[in-house]
Amino acid sequence: MSSPKQMPRIAILISGRGSNMRALIEAASQAKFPAEISLVLSNKPQAGGLEYAQSHKIPTSVIDHRRFEDRETFEQALDEVLHKAKIDLICLAGFMRVLTPWFITRWQGKLINIHPALLPSYKGLHTHERALADGVKIHGCTVHHVVPEVDAGPIIAQAAVPVLENDTAETLGARVLAAEHKLYPLALQKFLKKNFDISQKSDPNSQLISV
Ligand code: GAR
Repeated sequence: MSSPKQMPRIAILISGRGSNMRALIEAASQAKFPAEISLVLSNKPQAGGLEYAQSHKIPTSVIDHRRFEDRETFEQALDEVLHKAKIDLICLAGFMRVLTPWFITRWQGKLINIHPALLPSYKGLHTHERALADGVKIHGCTVHHVVPEVDAGPIIAQAAVPVLENDTAETLGARVLAAEHKLYPLALQKFLKKNFDISQKSDPNSQLISV
């Protein structure tokens, strides 16, 4: 059943601790937030974020990818659960499975991701280590649309953080993660304003993307 408020219904997909998921849940708990988090779904039964979602009365689902013989049958199960829950928009938040063009095409324009680097720099994994090895002075994070090419979709919003003299991958990663937690809710609101009819419900004075 769709919600009585008729707000867009969001699913957050996670694979681990879910700190970005938590930031989104906290933002969406504000009365003026123009969407509701209707489902948290993990491909890993042990994902830490599941417990937090459950404690906030958000329905959770686990679809363990190891139970499926290939990516597409896994994604068919994923797709079915998302449709049953009447999901309008998917936020990937540390979901560490590459999705196939089949799934991405089905959810085109309704599938966004957060990546721990200033795309198009540092696509893929180990972004903080690579940024340090290159000696860049600015690093950050990006919320972007998901397209079949990994980490290549149109950018919705970015936040930059300085790279400091004695940074390690851990200290830099922690600074980027703190920026992610601010960026994702703001980028999601920006996306919702642009793509859903929420003009009545959103705050016209809210400042978007001011990380
Ligand atoms: C975050 O840093 C996110 O940007 C990254 O995984 C971490 C998940 O942390 N995602 C990717 O690298 C996707 N390619 P979280 O589970 O605490 O949100």
